[in-house]
Amino acid sequence: MKAYLLDPAVAQYVLAHTTAPDPLLDELAKETLSVTGDAAGMQISPDQGTFLTMITQLVAPQVVVEVGTFTGYSSVCIARGLSGGRLHCFDVSDEWTSIARRYWREAGVEDRVTLTLGPALETLAAFDQTVDLAFLDADKGNYPGYYELLMERLRPGGLIVADNTLRRGHVADPAHEEQTTVEIRQFNDLVMEDPRVTVLMLPVADGMTLIRKN
Ligand SMILES: C[S@@+](CC[C@H](N)C(=O)[O-])C[C@H]1O[C@@H](n2cnc3c(N)ncnc32)[C@H](O)[C@@H]1O
Repeated sequence: MKAYLLDPAVAQYVLAHTTAPDPLLDELAKETLSVTGDAAGMQISPDQGTFLTMITQLVAPQVVVEVGTFTGYSSVCIARGLSGGRLHCFDVSDEWTSIARRYWREAGVEDRVTLTLGPALETLAAFDQTVDLAFLDADKGNYPGYYELLMERLRPGGLIVADNTLRRGHVADPAHEEQTTVEIRQFNDLVMEDPRVTVLMLPVADGMTLIRKN
């Protein structure tokens, strides 16, 4: 569990009272760590996975977009929440998403997932479907560009979930000038100033922002 923002005892309590991942997700997390090493820290945490399945079930989307798939943890969680819709994944890495593709098969969701490889600013620009739900979890400097492309495609009432929006809490410390923190701060301000949306920032894991198009 990524519990940067919680007292350790509270984090344990939250973990004990949140539906745990199944063996397939545990296996995916283990394989990701052994194959990708430090990069495994990019994977969403199990509680975020439960959140993504639940939010997908609640929104009941026909078209979901994920920007940033990595080895597939979040996409398996989203795909499992679908009932009849389709998940469109965007990533640049053939190597990392080849692991995702294997887990989509093992999870029995491969028939409802499409993967497009390439820089997502370009591949998303070529995506011409109306989007009901999006999960944004790729390179942080391009969040504003992805956001605008998603907003152009999102239906009124549709939802964007953006990950890592608190950067371990660093965004709230003006003295913290690390590049990604600055980029995320700019993204958070951009969303907050956008009159088209209603915004809820959740202090879950590394910060998840729910952005609803009005
Ligand atoms: C934080 S990881 C995604 C983690 C994933 N959601 C999960 O739960 O395991 C970020 C992903 O964004 C991808 N990425 C980075 N820059 C990108 C770009 N310009 N276009 C598309 N994908 C990109 C990386 O290849 C990486 O797989």
